[in-house]
Formats: sequence, structure tokens, C-alpha cells
Amino acid sequence: MRIAIVGGKGTLGGHVTAELARRGHDVRVLSRSGEYHVDLSTGDGLADALQDCDAVVDASNASSPKRAQAVLVEGSGRLLAAEAVAGVAHHVCISIVGCDQVPVGYYKVKVGQERVVEQGSTPWSIIQATQFHELAASALAAAARFLVLPVPGMKLQTVAAAEVAGAVADVTEGAPARGRIRVAGPQIMTAAEVARTWRAVTGRRALLMPVPVPGRLGRALRSGGLTVSRPDICGNISFADWLASQPQDGAAGSAGPGAKAQG
Ligand SMILES: NC(=O)c1ccc[n+]([C@@H]2O[C@H](COP(=O)([O-])OP(=O)(O)OC[C@H]3O[C@@H](n4cnc5c(N)ncnc54)[C@H](OP(=O)(O)O)[C@@H]3O)[C@@H](O)[C@H]2O)c1
Repeated sequence: MRIAIVGGKGTLGGHVTAELARRGHDVRVLSRSGEYHVDLSTGDGLADALQDCDAVVDASNASSPKRAQAVLVEGSGRLLAAEAVAGVAHHVCISIVGCDQVPVGYYKVKVGQERVVEQGSTPWSIIQATQFHELAASALAAAARFLVLPVPGMKLQTVAAAEVAGAVADVTEGAPARGRIRVAGPQIMTAAEVARTWRAVTGRRALLMPVPVPGRLGRALRSGGLTVSRPDICGNISFADWLASQPQDGAAGSAGPGAKAQG
């Protein structure tokens, strides 16, 4: 298949690109700095980049809610319009487990993105993933520079981006699900357990600092709004094992490529 991967050099997109290429597909990396230059916030380059593509994986991202609205919601509209012209048969959207449960600006944008995809004319699949190990590690590494690890009362179920990429590749090769596929990590942990694990494996010193999260947001996070007890696809690599496999001055020990991203 010829598959376009928007954001194909990002934290997840890089793994998706590698996995689909390994499986023998003809992959095109689309982004502002990709081999196919596109900008979802304007639509530049999409028409040419999507010519003759069978499927599109949208692994783009943006950090601020305003940019995210332009890239993920309005950008999905632009992407789907270009797909309709190019005759793309399958649009694969990457979203987040529980984005409709947890009242955070970025997650509201993700819900908006899902809605645009559901209403688009290209047959679709939505893969909802939990937070990547990469995101947790880079957030903790950034905080540890100040010798503290802020730990809100919340549950997490982080997963290796490489394992999510395997699921994305499987879904992309298959028929459009016209539904959601939830991919999650092997363990549900509190944020404090994640922080202690990070400290133990990296050997870094930092004090855990509980952060109260009041109101509806706090309740949603504490009750596991970002986790799923029975995911459709469950990763095998624990946060501790993933961390131990990373160079400690690389993704696990400093802000990695997804450092400013959200998920
Ligand atoms: N990170 C997580 O923990 C997590 C968890 C669950 C789901 N997700 C979802 O997974 C997706 C990918 O997240 P990620 O963390 O892998 O993202 P990321 O590492 O920040 O990569 C984002 C990619 O998007 C591209 N991009 C940004 N703005 C663009 C634009 N205007 N036009 C075209 N491409 C653009 C970037 O390339 P250029 O800068 O070259 O344009 C980059 O390749 C997102 O939808 C996110 O919500 C993430």
C-alpha cells in the first residue's frame, strides 16, 4: 500500500513510519519538515502529497490549545477534503483514551478532531492511545531539573510509542473500523508510582511533590479517566522496562522529541 503519515517524524509518527516501511509499504512522510512538505494549519502541499495514496495516518500534533485547534481540528478538515479529491480509502486518526472524560483544553480539541473525522467522507478508524512512556519520561526529566517531581492525584497507563505504532500499522493495513480502537499500557499506576519508578530506574534525585487537583478535573483524573481496564490492544512493555532500555541521557533523561507535545 502507499501510505501517507502526517507527522511521520514525530514521537509516534517516527515509529509508525519505520514499522510500515519494515512491512514493505510505500510510505510518505508528510509534515512541515518532512520529505513531503505540508502544513495542516494552511493546507499547503496536501493535494500533491496525497496523490495515489491508499491510506493516511494522521500522527500530527501541536502543543498549545490554539495551535492544536488549527492543526488537529481544522487541519483534519483540510486533510480529509484533500483525501476526498485524491480518493484515499482509509483515514487513521490518533487520539487519546478518555479525552471525552477529562476536562482539559487539549483533550476538548482531540474530541473535536474525532468528530471531524467521524463526519468526514473518508472511511476512518480512530485509535485512542494512553499517554506514551516517552511523554511521562520527558515531563519527569524536565521537572527534575528543579529537583521536584510534581505528582497530581491521578492514574496513568503509559505505553511505549513503538507498541502503539505496531497497533497503528495493523489497523492501517485492515479495513476501516468506523469506530475506536483503544491501545493502552500493561499497568495502571498512580502518578506517584510512575515518578518513583522513574527516579529508581534513572537514579536521578528529586522530591515527589503532591499537587492537589480540585473539582471535576481532579475527580476525572483520580478515578482513572485516562486509563482503560480492558483495552482492545494492550502493550507488553512496562514503564520500568522501557526506561531501562533507554540511554539515560537521551529520551528518558532529558526532554525528548515529544517534550513539548501533549497526549
Ligand atoms: N504523546 C502522547 O503521550 C500521546 C498519547 C496518546 C495520543 N497521542 C496523540 O498522538 C499524536 C502524535 O503525538 P506525538 O506526541 O507523537 O506528536 P509529536 O512528537 O509532537 O509530533 C508531531 C508531528 O506533527 C507534525 N506537525 C506539527 N504541526 C504540523 C502542521 N501544521 N502540519 C503538518 N504537520 C505538523 C510535526 O512535524 P513538523 O514540525 O515537521 O511539522 C511532528 O512530526 C497526537 O495526535 C496526539 O494527540 C499522543
